[in-house]
Amino acid sequence: MSIVTLKELLNIAENREIAVGAFSVGNMEMVLGAIKAAEKTNTPIIIQIAEVRLKTSPLEVIGPMMVAAAKNSTVDVCVHLDHGLNYETVEKALEIGFSSVMLDGSLLSFEDNINLTKKVVEKARKYGASVEAELGVVGGNEGGGKAHVIQCTDPEAAKEFCERTGVDALAVAIGNAHGHYKTQPELRLDILKEIDNVCSTPLVLHGGTGITPETFQECIRNGIRKINIATASFDAVVNASRKTLQDDKSNYFTLSSNIADGVCENIENHIKIFNMQILK
Ligand code: 13P
Repeated sequence: MSIVTLKELLNIAENREIAVGAFSVGNMEMVLGAIKAAEKTNTPIIIQIAEVRLKTSPLEVIGPMMVAAAKNSTVDVCVHLDHGLNYETVEKALEIGFSSVMLDGSLLSFEDNINLTKKVVEKARKYGASVEAELGVVGGNEGGGKAHVIQCTDPEAAKEFCERTGVDALAVAIGNAHGHYKTQPELRLDILKEIDNVCSTPLVLHGGTGITPETFQECIRNGIRKINIATASFDAVVNASRKTLQDDKSNYFTLSSNIADGVCENIENHIKIFNMQILK
């Protein structure tokens, strides 16, 4: 198996009426844990890193590691740049070998978002890579800064946006938010249904941490084909570390393998939900 584009995985998801999990990584243990979960469940996945995370995990270091892990996996893996903030970072990711990129223009005007996204699509096509864009504003803040106010995606605008840009995937805002939800989120499934009815582009759900299995599966029944999970994986790293370090006999090597296993377990559970296998 090999590194594949987002478009290829979204086609499989569409045919099987499931969603592909997109799991954020920040170090080698997270990369290995994610790949292990994909191999255990024999399910293709996306590993991704957001531009805000490059301060602690430089792209020149973690990028080639992600690409190598994808190429060595026994299942298909897409390597994706999540929430790119600068065009130069998109270029760098493509040069390293990422098979998919996102430049987040959701805070720009509709026309500026379209123009920037078109530029990214043109560039990515030269590398045979896929492109995700976002329309509407997802709540919270991937970088932990000031929370963005949620602005749900307008269905007709989504249709026009996808037709004019030719993106492979569109992230929608339906009441979802990055980070921990303060209360159980009430997603606007009515808006999701409307977007899915008018827009043939596969849809992406950001802010996956804290959404219930039932809601994930309802979203999948209404056109969501990629689901992003970040906070739950970072929490799995911290929890596995705390637990390991309580044991006086722990050392660097037990810590490293327990972190990878903790991440793997969390991702495996998500994969089963996204594959429409379990409600747990
Ligand atoms: P969470 O951190 O809420 O899981 O969101 C992940 C995400 O959407 C990354 O873009």
